[in-house]
Amino acid sequence: MNCLDAIRQRSSCRDFSDKKVSEKDVELLLEAALASPTAVNAQSLRFALITDEDLIQKISDASYELMDEVTLERMRARKAINLFYGAPLLLVISSVPSRCSDIDAGIAAQSVCLTAEQLGLSSCIIGLSRSAFAEDNPKHMRQVLGMEEDERFIVSVAIGYAQSRKEPHELTWEHVRRF
Ligand SMILES: Cc1cc2nc3c(=O)[nH]c(=O)nc-3n(C[C@H](O)[C@H](O)[C@H](O)COP(=O)(O)O)c2cc1C
Repeated sequence: MNCLDAIRQRSSCRDFSDKKVSEKDVELLLEAALASPTAVNAQSLRFALITDEDLIQKISDASYELMDEVTLERMRARKAINLFYGAPLLLVISSVPSRCSDIDAGIAAQSVCLTAEQLGLSSCIIGLSRSAFAEDNPKHMRQVLGMEEDERFIVSVAIGYAQSRKEPHELTWEHVRRF
């Protein structure tokens, strides 16, 4: 599969099977994250690779702690078994202080998602896990993941084998301005 095919084929998976991701594939996913560009080559991102099911569930539970009613209803409507839709692998991307870390993390997340696609895996970028790492969450998971005091959660990526897949979103060509 070439890169454009992976981009075309990728869609957010919200229904993972419990089949584990092989160690070899895990290493390739990590390589994709680490090979991603960062502004001024800051490399401020930190990656927590989690395969421990109980820990994934605890992060999900901690995220639900601060969830508002609208989001709770959305998760119910999605019949989500947890915040990560049952994915057996979770990559939490955080950063020590750096100016462009949000952009860097987004690029790394997409690198991981496209690599997953190429490996026959599926993925879903999960921003809602932010609250699991908020200082004001009494059940926050910062220490558990070894985050430094000034380290900031940015985004996470749930990865695994899809039990069912949705179609990729429609392309909105009207959003392009040509000159
Ligand atoms: C930064 C970011 C955060 C996201 N957070 C969540 C999330 O917490 N939960 C979720 O189910 N999907 C999340 N998504 C997935 C988007 O909802 C999804 O990309 C969008 O609906 C388009 O669908 P597609 O990815 O299948 O093309 C997130 C996507 C991005 C880029």
